[in-house]
Amino acid sequence: MKQIETKRLILRPITEDDAQDFFELDANPNVHIYLGNNPVKTIDQSKAAIANILEQYKTNGIGRLAIIDKATNTFLGWSGLKFEQNLRKAFDYYDLGYRLKEQHWGKGYATEAAIASLDYGFKDLKLKEICAAADIGNIASNVILKKVGLKPSGQFTYEGDVCNWYIIQNPYY
Ligand SMILES: CC(C)(COP(=O)(O)OP(=O)(O)OC[C@H]1O[C@@H](n2cnc3c(N)ncnc32)[C@H](O)[C@@H]1OP(=O)(O)O)[C@@H](O)C(=O)NCCC(=O)NCCS
Repeated sequence: MKQIETKRLILRPITEDDAQDFFELDANPNVHIYLGNNPVKTIDQSKAAIANILEQYKTNGIGRLAIIDKATNTFLGWSGLKFEQNLRKAFDYYDLGYRLKEQHWGKGYATEAAIASLDYGFKDLKLKEICAAADIGNIASNVILKKVGLKPSGQFTYEGDVCNWYIIQNPYY
């Protein structure tokens, strides 16, 4: 797993040592408003989430990366690409995603991480296309996906919530 660097951020592989930061991120109900409203209650849930990501690194050679603020060495959240096999019932795809601790919202970090993730996916991994999904009410996420170049490509329903579906093709193909 490669480390990615941007102007303000390092995107590095997630490790078991990130459990406390994952717990702080995912225990916040505001973070989970558009993610099914089911924040975690115990650190064991966060450890299990990390174990799942480490398994994806091994099986798929890809997975979400921790976002670290270069200036302070602080864990801000995660972003990156995931080989998504569960969200759409009919097909698998490479998903762009991000999740930040609430105190770090509104500073352009998710946009910066998303641009770097697309660049990595298209130039290094040579993926043909990258997709993303966002709840129709999740304004920030829908703004970001359009801003970084993904094209709105319809809607679908996931566990009762209507989501916008986005696709971007590899421009270097
Ligand atoms: C979604 C999330 C990652 C965004 O992170 P962020 O670092 O605050 O996002 P950015 O600052 O890069 O960009 C947010 C954009 O949305 C815009 N935005 C946010 N709320 C908005 C609103 N209510 N109306 C209009 N625009 C809004 C911002 O202005 C910004 O656009 P701009 O840079 O063109 O001004 C963050 O809110 C989060 O972690 N949410 C919880 C988890 C989540 O929902 N993940 C996405 C699942 S699809």
